[in-house]
Parts: sequence; structure tokens; C-alpha cells
Amino acid sequence: MDNFWAHLARPFTVLAPLSGFTDRAFRQICRSYGADVVVSEMASVAALVHSPEKALERLYFNEIERPYVVQLFGADPNQFGEAARLVTNRIQPDGLDINCGCPAPKIIKEGAGAALGADLPRARQAVQAVLSNTSLPVSIKLRAQNKDISAQQVVAYLADLPLAAVTVHGRSVSGGFSGPVDPGAIALCRPYVAGVLIANGGIVDLMTAQIMLQKSLADGIMIGRGALGRPWIFQEIKEGREINLTWTELTELIRRHAQLIVAYKGEDGLIEFRKFLAWYVKGWPQAKALRAQLMQIKTLSELENVITSVSA
Ligand SMILES: Cc1cc2nc3c(=O)[nH]c(=O)nc-3n(C[C@H](O)[C@H](O)[C@H](O)COP(=O)(O)O)c2cc1C
Repeated sequence: MDNFWAHLARPFTVLAPLSGFTDRAFRQICRSYGADVVVSEMASVAALVHSPEKALERLYFNEIERPYVVQLFGADPNQFGEAARLVTNRIQPDGLDINCGCPAPKIIKEGAGAALGADLPRARQAVQAVLSNTSLPVSIKLRAQNKDISAQQVVAYLADLPLAAVTVHGRSVSGGFSGPVDPGAIALCRPYVAGVLIANGGIVDLMTAQIMLQKSLADGIMIGRGALGRPWIFQEIKEGREINLTWTELTELIRRHAQLIVAYKGEDGLIEFRKFLAWYVKGWPQAKALRAQLMQIKTLSELENVITSVSA
């Protein structure tokens, strides 16, 4: 199958996998602002093997999201292989990604995420199992430093495998989500990555995007939290200019996003949409009072009442 990564115009942008956020509604919003690739929330290979229908349900997508990558997490290379075959056949995304960097204690305890990334022979088996069970391009996502193992050591160890892309989150596993980002540690991976190299971590605007691209030697950048409340960050980077939405434009976006949520999840989905609303109004005048009202909404009409009551 086609390796779409190789054909992307560089530098390209990728919406990061964000568990609890990057569902099909948000992925479509980010694609509409020019994200070149979008990634699913991480999907458990154990769940895909044991309760496939339920696990597959969360991975369906709309054609307009392409190129769409499904990210897998887990511990057992055999399950990675089985899950890769299932997702390739049933979901037919454009790529598969392997999570080798998640620091959440729950994930590490099961031997997945950063625990997989720290166990090089097992990580290699997982990559090989996925490669043997899919025709899709395969990528991995890892941290710059994982205990005493650097991303450079991991990619050197995997350099003979045909990985189409490698994403390095420029923080250490122990740095969690707020520690310093080291673009230099990403650049050190460059010689070992035959596919595309993607830099991630702390990109929140045009300037941080440009600095990351220069210092990391990456082909593209991946953005997570910088897209929450500001999905137009992809357009800013593409057009090389800062974009500030008016309140009217922002409310149009909020409506569009809410309608997609309701289309896919029903009005019940608006309860979990509240966390997006908090991001959207961050920094607006009276954000605190506005947020308090938005945290109560249960229906589209209640949402409409709150956003039209503001004359920002
Ligand atoms: C709420 C949340 C959920 C995340 N879920 C995932 C995930 O499912 N898979 C993954 O590889 N990384 C996940 N990450 C890490 C992000 O993909 C990204 O590497 C990290 O947030 C750094 O990028 P940023 O500074 O642009 O947010 C998550 C991060 C956050 C904050």
C-alpha cells in the first residue's frame, strides 16, 4: 500500500494522538484547518484482540480525515500483530503507529507505552509483528529519553526495519508533559531514520513551530495541546502568519465542532465536549464566568444560549 508519509510536502504538520480529545470530530476540525495528518487516540491491542467490535468502534473515521493513522498501544508483540491485521482490514486507515512513550502509570504497569520503549528487544518484536501483519506504513512514537535509553539509541537499534516515520517527543519520560523539550535530542536521531522524522513537544504557535523545525532537523512537526482551543494553529504554520479569531469566528467554530460531536455521539457527547469549550474560551474576557456557564451545558440549545449571551 501507498506510503503517504513519503509524499507529504515538507515541512508538514500532524495532529498528535491525545487520548480523550482526538476523536473523529476533533480530527475533522484539525484537518479543516490544514493539519496534514491526524492520529487516533491510542487503541489497546489487548482490547482489539479480546473485544474487537467494541474496540474497533472507537477507530472509525470519515474519509475527509485521510491521511488518518491509528495508534496502537500494548505489551504483547503477538497481540500487536493480531491487532494490526484487524485494524488494517476493518478500519483501513492510512498508517499504523506504535506507542513507545506513554508515561501514564496505568499504561507502564501493563508493560505498554514507555515500558515497551524501554525494553528494546520487545519493542523490536512489536514493530516486526506489526510490519508482518499490515501493508500500511508503520511508524513509532517515543520520548527523547526513557530511563537510561535515548531516542537515538532506540532508532539506531531499529534502523534496519522499514519504519516509514518516527516521532520523537522531545521530553524525557520522567519529564512528563511539562519538563523541558530538547530539539537537539531529536536531531541526534536523524542519521538513523530512513523514513520521515517528526518532532513533537511544546509547539504552541508559529514561533515555537519554526524553532522546533530548525533545531530538530525534522521533516514535520506534531502538535498536541497547542491545537486544543486553537485548532487553526495548523493554518498559522502553513501560512506563516499569526491568526486571531474574532468572537464571531470562534463561535462559528464552536458550533461546528459541537454539531460534529452530536452527530457522532449524540447530545450526551456534549458533556465530554465541555473540556474543549474550556480550551476555546481560554484567554477571552470574562473567561472564568463564561467557562462556569459552559461547564453546565447539556444540549446544543443551551450551548447556543451561552455563546450568544456574550458580546465579546
Ligand atoms: C491529554 C493527553 C492525552 C495524550 N494521549 C496520547 C496518546 O493516546 N498517545 C500518545 O502517543 N501520546 C499521547 N499524549 C502525548 C501527546 O501525543 C504529545 O506527545 C504530548 O502532549 C507532547 O506534545 P504537545 O506539547 O504538543 O502537547 C497525550 C497527551 C495528553 C496531554
